[in-house]
Amino acid sequence: MGCRIAVFGTGYLGATHAACMAELGHEVIGVDVDTAKLEKLAAGEVPFYEPGLAEVLKANVDSGRVRFTTSYETAAEFADIHFIGVATPQKRGEFAADLTYVDSVVTKLAPLLTRPSVIFGKSTVPVGTAARLSEMVRRLAPVGNAAEVAWNPEFLREGFAVQDTLHPDRIVLGVDTDRRGRAEEVAREVYSDIIAEGVPFVITDLETSELVKTAANAFLATKISFINAMAEVCEAAGADVSELADAIGYDARIGRRFLNAGIGFGGGCLPKDIRAFMARAGELGANQALTFLREVDSINMRRRTKMMEMTREIAGGSLIGARVAVLGAAFKPDSDDIRDSPALNIAGQIQLQGASVAVYDPKAMENSRKLFPTLDYASDVNEACSGADVTLVLTEWDEFRRLNPADLDPIVRARRIIDGRNCLDQAKWRSSGWEYRGMGRR
Ligand code: UGA
Repeated sequence: MGCRIAVFGTGYLGATHAACMAELGHEVIGVDVDTAKLEKLAAGEVPFYEPGLAEVLKANVDSGRVRFTTSYETAAEFADIHFIGVATPQKRGEFAADLTYVDSVVTKLAPLLTRPSVIFGKSTVPVGTAARLSEMVRRLAPVGNAAEVAWNPEFLREGFAVQDTLHPDRIVLGVDTDRRGRAEEVAREVYSDIIAEGVPFVITDLETSELVKTAANAFLATKISFINAMAEVCEAAGADVSELADAIGYDARIGRRFLNAGIGFGGGCLPKDIRAFMARAGELGANQALTFLREVDSINMRRRTKMMEMTREIAGGSLIGARVAVLGAAFKPDSDDIRDSPALNIAGQIQLQGASVAVYDPKAMENSRKLFPTLDYASDVNEACSGADVTLVLTEWDEFRRLNPADLDPIVRARRIIDGRNCLDQAKWRSSGWEYRGMGRR
């Protein structure tokens, strides 16, 4: 017999968590304020692109194990285990995280807690948030101290969300160490199947669990900016960053993963998380500890400018009147997410320099059109490349990796390609008569 679980927020994180908890055999209710989103989910449809999620959702909607509502009353009546999976975006014009949505879930939910309950926070939050919410919940909940807050950060990657939720590298749980409640016991029950597989289950205090998440993302961002800094040096020295990454990656202490140089990281997590981390460290008086993250951020943003400059150079020194094909809009492949996408950011910069830009992405067209209505969009690779003076690959979709230079020959105006993700076989393009450039490559 599974647990009864409510999941607040049905974005990438919440929708995936709700569907996957049902998949583990629990009875789940997903709660959101967005009725259009809920209607889709209730019909078994995923409102964004995430491989494999639709199947898991549909099966569990059909079996009745997961359903959706806007009603906090219904959720609080149904479940005693609550997960918070709402967004914590960057505040407008500031580095800090905006906790409005997390706070709003807690202020609405806590007054409805009349039975002993555990609220597990999954959203990425500044350290100290869980303790503050814990105090708030005890104050607002009719059941008082029997309503607990624990933190259970989520490490899922877009594109692998289902796999990462059902088979995570680790489960981290932060509990209130002063008043050891039921949180650990409840988490062990919720995740029993996963723990039984031998997945490490790390129990710590609230603050450490919050920091584990931000530290992990800060490390990943640093790793990417490290290799992009090496790319800058390789560019200056006439060396090749891909070969360098392969060679240093054989050292198991370094590892080859997340060492792909290119136009850098984007998305809804890494950029805003490192900024929120710096802001929080500043508030805590530990800002010096994280000044290196400013550099990580700057290196990352410089890659976008570099790409624009390379495009201008290869186009003959000016982008005015040039036609540029932009292949890729999503911040990474297997996703339709364009939040802080380097690809779209570059497409915008190039257009501002006077070029005419045609963007194509296998999944992110609708989102791109909404956010950047002033860019021109093409319905496939051929249309994007039609008459192009320069072709840019900015997201490493399989479709682009597999492109055959000969197929594009009759379409483009000039055979020039820049590989913003170092994902193409440069020998293949060069031997087909194309001028190929990678990022930090010879
Ligand atoms: C990231 C983390 O990887 C997850 O562990 C974390 O749970 C998630 O943020 C989150 O906080 O919710 P995600 O944003 O889905 O996941 O994407 P990543 O796979 O980390 O890629 C981030 C960006 O880095 C992408 O733009 C990608 O193209 C870029 N990247 C990645 C590189 O430029 N080089 C690499 O070698 C790897």
